[in-house]
Amino acid sequence: MDITILGIESSCDDTSAAVLRGTTLLSNVIASQAVHVKYGGVIPELASRAHQQNIIPVVDTALKEAGVSIDKIDAIAFTRGPGLLGSLLVGTSFAKGLSIANNIPLVEVNHLQGHILSHFVDLPDRELPHPEFPFLCLLVSGGHTQIVKVNSPLEMEIIGSTIDDAAGEAFDKCAKVMGLPYPGGPVIDRLAKEGNPKAFTFAKPHVKGEFDYSFSGLKTSFLYTLRDEIKQDADFVEKNKADLCASLQSTIIDILLNKLIKATKSLGIKDVAIAGGVSANSGLREAVAEAGRRRGWRTFIPELKFTTDNAAMIAISGYYRYKQGMISDLGISPVARLEEIL
Ligand code: KG4
Ligand code: ZN
Repeated sequence: MDITILGIESSCDDTSAAVLRGTTLLSNVIASQAVHVKYGGVIPELASRAHQQNIIPVVDTALKEAGVSIDKIDAIAFTRGPGLLGSLLVGTSFAKGLSIANNIPLVEVNHLQGHILSHFVDLPDRELPHPEFPFLCLLVSGGHTQIVKVNSPLEMEIIGSTIDDAAGEAFDKCAKVMGLPYPGGPVIDRLAKEGNPKAFTFAKPHVKGEFDYSFSGLKTSFLYTLRDEIKQDADFVEKNKADLCASLQSTIIDILLNKLIKATKSLGIKDVAIAGGVSANSGLREAVAEAGRRRGWRTFIPELKFTTDNAAMIAISGYYRYKQGMISDLGISPVARLEEIL
């Protein structure tokens, strides 16, 4: 019988639970927290409280939808970090409690590794395409922007990283100054479709590290453009929203692609994946697919449900760790900053 894993994710503002049998996803339940929208960003204390309210019904629903009772679970995989400490504490404590009560082994998972390994989840009615090792993964989320060389499910090397803001942060912060709701990424994505990506020019970074990123200069240049234009015309943002979004998005994509292409050339790797919340961006997905067609890469663009935070990715990471006997001690605690990917 294949291994059955219960995955639990609670690192930021989504509470999620998933059941995986082998690499096949039986359920993946996500409760998103609406409470943060009115504040224009995630409020950590409110996130922890919402996780507390959501976690029991979310886990219960994931087991029911999968048609699996708790005694059939071989291991409980949970997100240890990185993320908001209070949010991580809820998932970790719950996973520990469930582990003790039912005598089920506990497996810690790095959230970032989870995003990358989401490429190995299959669906009950079809297998999804899986990259071959070693492959390169552009990991773009709200908190991280990295180029990772993935040698095996458990052996990954960060070869490039942002030195300041993450790509998702650039989307969210620029959206905020335009008065758009949180999270800004999906809103900019939608508005950008109506705009001209060449309407505005924003600063592109010159970063020393060959495969490193920077987004804070772009953010500042975006802010200055807005400030100067608003002085002339108070309705500037309202009138130019679509063009601003299209230009911002295309600049972010150019920055991301530039270093990714360099990395593939330098390492001679042609299996290229994207992962993390920003990999939901329609412009980025198209640009990576197009770069792949031109350069002879095999590109791996995740299904939308596996881009933003979800427990399926935690369960698949747990699956690989459990198979290697990597069981966590019950004394384990969450870590807000887990810079190392393993
Ligand atoms: O991976 P994720 O769900 O959470 C973290 O681990 O951070 O990523 C969230 C980020 C947010 O910054 C959000 O704005 C961005 O992903 N995002 C997008 C899109 N959908 C989500 N950014 C651009 N375009 C999108 N369609
Ligand atoms: Zn994430």
